[in-house]
Amino acid sequence: MRAAGSAVLSLVLGLSVLGAVQVPAQAAGRCGDHPWCDTSLSPDRRADLLLAELTLDEKVGLLGGDSLRDTGKPSDQTHTGIQDGVPRLDVPTINYSDGPVGPRQGRSIGLPAPIALAAGFDPALAARFGTVAASEAKLKGNDVVYAPTVDIVRTPRAGRTFETFGEDTYLTTRLGVSWIQGAQSTGVIANVKHFVGNNQEGEEPTGGELSSLSPLGIPFRGARYLQDAIIDERTLRETYLPQFEAAVKEAKVGTVMCAYNRVNSEFACQNRTLLEDVLRKDWGFQGYTIGDYLALHSTAGGLNNGLDFEPWPPIGYQPALIRTALALGRVSERTIDLHVHRMLRTWFAYGVFDRAAFRDDDSRIDRVADGAVAQRVAEQGATLLRNQGGVLPLSSSVRSIAVIGRSSTEFIAGGGSGSVEAFEVHSILDGIRQRAGSGVKVTYDDGSDPARAAAVARAADVAVVVVRDQYGEGADRGCLSLQCPRRHGDQDALVEAVAAGQPRTVALVQSGGVSLLPWRDKVAAVLQVWYPGAYGGPAVARVLFGDVDPGGRLPVTIPDAESQLPTAVSPARYPGAGPLGLRTQYDEGIFVGYRWYDRQGLRPAYPFGFGLSYTTFRMSGLSVERRDTGATVSATVTNTGSRTGYAVPQLYLGLPSQRGVEQPRSALKGFRKVQLAPGASTRVTFSLDERALSYWDATSDRWRVGPGCASVTVGSSSRSAELRGTLPVGGGRC
Ligand code: BGC
Repeated sequence: MRAAGSAVLSLVLGLSVLGAVQVPAQAAGRCGDHPWCDTSLSPDRRADLLLAELTLDEKVGLLGGDSLRDTGKPSDQTHTGIQDGVPRLDVPTINYSDGPVGPRQGRSIGLPAPIALAAGFDPALAARFGTVAASEAKLKGNDVVYAPTVDIVRTPRAGRTFETFGEDTYLTTRLGVSWIQGAQSTGVIANVKHFVGNNQEGEEPTGGELSSLSPLGIPFRGARYLQDAIIDERTLRETYLPQFEAAVKEAKVGTVMCAYNRVNSEFACQNRTLLEDVLRKDWGFQGYTIGDYLALHSTAGGLNNGLDFEPWPPIGYQPALIRTALALGRVSERTIDLHVHRMLRTWFAYGVFDRAAFRDDDSRIDRVADGAVAQRVAEQGATLLRNQGGVLPLSSSVRSIAVIGRSSTEFIAGGGSGSVEAFEVHSILDGIRQRAGSGVKVTYDDGSDPARAAAVARAADVAVVVVRDQYGEGADRGCLSLQCPRRHGDQDALVEAVAAGQPRTVALVQSGGVSLLPWRDKVAAVLQVWYPGAYGGPAVARVLFGDVDPGGRLPVTIPDAESQLPTAVSPARYPGAGPLGLRTQYDEGIFVGYRWYDRQGLRPAYPFGFGLSYTTFRMSGLSVERRDTGATVSATVTNTGSRTGYAVPQLYLGLPSQRGVEQPRSALKGFRKVQLAPGASTRVTFSLDERALSYWDATSDRWRVGPGCASVTVGSSSRSAELRGTLPVGGGRC
């Protein structure tokens, strides 16, 4: 029986449920009339049945990708990888596409960078973002989307910072889970990446000047392709792995991409400890692993240690090499079966056989709906860092605005596999012009001559100076100044000149992560809008004019100087020791991001979790209660100002240090984003399970609650503990 119509299908399903007829349940897909097409069987059973029919050549053929792109299409409009099926047995071809900002295949809606989503501190919005990214990938005919990127920002110089959800594991975990759930609700399979320790791309000989020229960079020291991340067990378990663990256990992600780098001396895509012991045995992963492009170094190394699929161009998984490895007895046919079974099982479990192929026809993309999500993410991520004299929101008495800086007219995407091209771009300059309307004069200067820009700024009531940085895959930034790379001019000097000419200057920072803001005390306001996407213009304008409260909070610490970074301590930490800097010591341990600043007593420019609102909030009524093996913390948030706004109460715990196990002063364990009208209050409650109270005990190789008194703080950033309490843990006392 070939693909039955859905009415017939429901009839058959209905009758078989009633036990009236014994017809195998079959879905309206492309599975064909095979025993494994019986949808009442488990995915494992279906995979068993199909596997038994495949020849060795067919199985070997499934392990490596077949092409990078579909023939007959311009190179910028094709999938990122194609895995041919087995037509003889109706095994479908699987199409893959990047990435974390939506499909990198022709044009897409132009979502903001994921770091902007992270600043929104809103898992529900992350689900909508994932839904848009995956549904657009689906409408371009893809079965798998290579996203999200959940690597941690260990150093904000890392080229892929813009693709991530920031420096904190808990925030990354919550957003990653929702992103994947949203994405997979479309029928597309998500791909959480890069497992694990891919926290740098490498330094360039020119200090970052080349990174923007070559899509994959020209890394020199500490290059991701060969670099060895030396990470101790506790740090791996607490900082770098939990977001992958939750992707597997909670979000049921279908695929995991292993990273280029080595972890503790073994390449991540042939690292048995990670791919088999942790991912499968510890966490119960049942999907399949995908190697990053060219990340595999040995055929037997991949096959025997847990890599299921190597995309095109397969280096290790070329059929001839696999055949040779089999002939030499370096791998067994059972191992081949194991990998193929995992793929088949996943495709059965995610419905790939039981539906029609997704059609590549992006005229069906709902640009209005997706554009609305893109705009909302930009609004919710806009992070107000400074607002002197209430310069924002712009008051109705403002009659003229000078918009300065070429980047106010540009669509900024990070480089590499997270780059996208937008259907249409609504620039910041256009957004401001449209929102200002005819009663407000908007003048524009590209900022190429700071003195001229200052004069234009002076002639207006308010100046909005727009700057940008540049992040991209393949190479790290040479430094964190806006002048790295130099091609965007001396933007620091531009801001200074404009601020000197106009006291009511608003700096709009388009950043893929962190750029130093040395002039921050000289401008009236700083609004960090990240890479706000193709609908950034209307979003930014709405925030500037106060139509919407700035919803963002920092998912990364902004340092006062680069010397404050945890990785600035020694070249062994970053980019790495040795002639090519290939051995990177993660010896700051779990003290990444704000945990490092807290431990060292450093005062950053702006702390993690920080962001202002146009209104004010009060927090009160902290309650901390022990519950079984966990606890419940609640607090009341009240809008004490005169505008509706967003509050993001954040819960931090300081677990008691144990002998030889130092704990961070505070670690994020909960957050909630609430919108409150003037005078309104709400009670927010955070549940802490046993894991939230635990640390990884490397001696016993398990999670453990250490006895003592934990500090509990609820506040509006990692540094502002509005409410303080305590919680006895592990049988300890306070
Ligand atoms: C990146 C992956 C990406 C792949 C395909 C690699 O260079 O590291 O994240 O999915 O390319 O474009």
